[in-house]
Amino acid sequence: MADITELTKFARSKERDAALFFQGREEFITDIKYAIQNAQENLRAGESTTSETRLFYGAPGAGKTSLLGEIAKRAEQGTFGAIRPIIVRVVSGKSLNSEEDVVLQIAEAIKKDAIFRTTSHSNATLKAAFPTIFGGSLTKGQIQNSPKATFLNLKQIIKDLSPSRTLLLCVDEIQNIGPDAKEMIDLLHQGNHTLPIIPVYAGLGNSLRVIMSHGISRPASGYIHTVSALAVEEAQAAVNAMLTQFKVARGKKTGDWPGVLAQRSDCWPQHLHNGMRALAMELIRPDINGELDRVDPNTVFAREQNLREQAYGWRLSQTFQQTQGLLSQIMHHITVQPHNLAELESLVLRLDQKAPRDPTLRAFSLPEDRDLEKYIHEMMHQGLLQEFSEQDEAGRITGTLRCPIPSLATYIMRLGGIDPSKAPPK
Ligand SMILES: Nc1ncnc2c1ncn2[C@@H]1O[C@H](COP(=O)(O)OP(=O)(O)OP(=O)(O)O)[C@@H](O)[C@H]1O
Ligand SMILES: [Mg+2]
Repeated sequence: MADITELTKFARSKERDAALFFQGREEFITDIKYAIQNAQENLRAGESTTSETRLFYGAPGAGKTSLLGEIAKRAEQGTFGAIRPIIVRVVSGKSLNSEEDVVLQIAEAIKKDAIFRTTSHSNATLKAAFPTIFGGSLTKGQIQNSPKATFLNLKQIIKDLSPSRTLLLCVDEIQNIGPDAKEMIDLLHQGNHTLPIIPVYAGLGNSLRVIMSHGISRPASGYIHTVSALAVEEAQAAVNAMLTQFKVARGKKTGDWPGVLAQRSDCWPQHLHNGMRALAMELIRPDINGELDRVDPNTVFAREQNLREQAYGWRLSQTFQQTQGLLSQIMHHITVQPHNLAELESLVLRLDQKAPRDPTLRAFSLPEDRDLEKYIHEMMHQGLLQEFSEQDEAGRITGTLRCPIPSLATYIMRLGGIDPSKAPPK
């Protein structure tokens, strides 16, 4: 008998809730494991940890936050070795603008860490070791008459209380850093604080550009990872896991739901999640009562389509709504033929020049400020465009710009009245 109560909770979950049926990303998780092992070896050798930064970036709904959540979960389960790292979750890159903010968040995580709570360190020892952080309120800006929380303070407390553990500093929404974060990012990357900290950043498709635009030099290889669609088998496994967890029996006529939802969602995590929610919404109807055979696939598809279009609609900021004609044409061109940044810039300029000069038809030309760079940047930020590193025929690595989700490209072309099956005009 299907678990209608749990299915109902799932159907009502929000689209960015932590992944209940997390699949894949093993390569990333293994990479984190190696980084932790390296840091552990450095610790044993009395050396500091340098250049272990990781950046996971991708379009909205690619599963970056879920990946950070999974890393924390695996740490808890002991996947990264017997000496568990301390996980620090920071919700926005904005925190990197201030040393005090970062240090306080690390201290807070140490304080909450289960191993600390079960060791012999009493609260009094903690307070004595680090009065600024453990003495009173942790709220930023409320500490009065006490020195600011600095890495120097933190070093002392880690040396006293946690000498053998590494620290995974997981910062989400890294694209929100400001120019003031340059020093912090460099410090964390170079390990000049001499603490065993591994910075793990997650952010939108423009994250690397934002990091570099603040003067941070191009990071070492192994730093950057693109988070994109799941593999077909992984997407199917998520649907299977859902049906099993909610005890939904596969009936005699039941179609291949895992296969169908994987295909309809382009294996894109957010759409897949919404597809599974759409199926759950049908399963909980009193007349269906958890019986897969009674579900009408077309109703599920219509619900899924609706959720997806809402998600796409939110991405089309005012700038894109006002330049819909131009945007659709750009999508059409880059879908047919990959472009690097310079090629894309000249394409946009060419399309803009060809646009009718009638001011009522602004939809085909650049926005009023005519800022080409800003326009392309906004496309990356919203996940309409993403830079992929690819090897060309001569074996050279080039940065290619593409729309990361095929159905999003199609959606935008159709909005502008373009038939995606036709070639774009020369
Ligand atoms: N590896 C995965 N396996 C299964 N489902 C996933 C996976 N990753 C993410 N999801 C699902 O996809 C949805 C979107 O994921 P998430 O919020 O992590 O994306 P994001 O990249 O952080 O998006 P945003 O840029 O909007 O913050 C979540 O509801 C989650 O359930
Ligand atoms: Mg997120």
